[in-house]
Amino acid sequence: MENIPQHVSIIMDGNGRWAKARGKERIYGHYEGVESVRACLEAAVEEGVKYLSLYAFSEENWNRPEQEVLGLMELMMKAMKKELITFMDNHIRFVVLGNRARLSDSLNATIDEMMAQTAANDTATLILFLSYSGQWDILQAMKKAAASLPEKDFQALTPEDFAPYLVTAGIPDPDLLIRTSGELRISNYLLWQCAYTEFYFSDVLWPDFRKPEFREALRAYAQRDRRYGKVK
Ligand code: FPP
Repeated sequence: MENIPQHVSIIMDGNGRWAKARGKERIYGHYEGVESVRACLEAAVEEGVKYLSLYAFSEENWNRPEQEVLGLMELMMKAMKKELITFMDNHIRFVVLGNRARLSDSLNATIDEMMAQTAANDTATLILFLSYSGQWDILQAMKKAAASLPEKDFQALTPEDFAPYLVTAGIPDPDLLIRTSGELRISNYLLWQCAYTEFYFSDVLWPDFRKPEFREALRAYAQRDRRYGKVK
């Protein structure tokens, strides 16, 4: 395929509805959603996408019923541990970004261990946004910049000077953002980083979004004419 995006990001939506349609608990949809993660990661590697990032849990998701939050955290822990072999075999670097202070000690320990073990892998990077929100990211970056820069330099900050304070420092901005399940919103995701990102919305629920759907999104992206606010 031509014109492959370097960084594809996904708002995985519709797991709950997928489960409900089958008369099952919401968590069942999340478990099936992990299979879609695996499928899309495989397709991304096959097509030469260098960064795949996923909105796995937002700061707002902490307000869901406790049972679902606990279920999701357990699922995340299990899925990560299970995929370590796949990441090593396929040279995939695994990164978690977000408000790590809100995660449990045991989950943080697993994340640290996995990030360290996969740090040198260089075929592709899988980023999981966990306890993340775009406004939180911009605020924490602003506080870090204010604390580390003299007032005069802080006042003179440019977007290029500011970006390294975001948790995504060193990661290219997404070229393509996919949202599944027919919702047409950004939901406090990568607000700064999506300034020039191409959006692709699919009606398919996340547990049904597999390799053919991922490839279809790449094909749609290849047709886009990116101008970055300029005239061509
Ligand atoms: C949105 O569906 C999905 C989530 C909030 C969580 C998705 C998380 C995963 C699939 C886990 C991935 C983890 C690893 C380690 C690979 P929803 O619950 O908002 O669905 P609804 O809109 O139908 O209610």
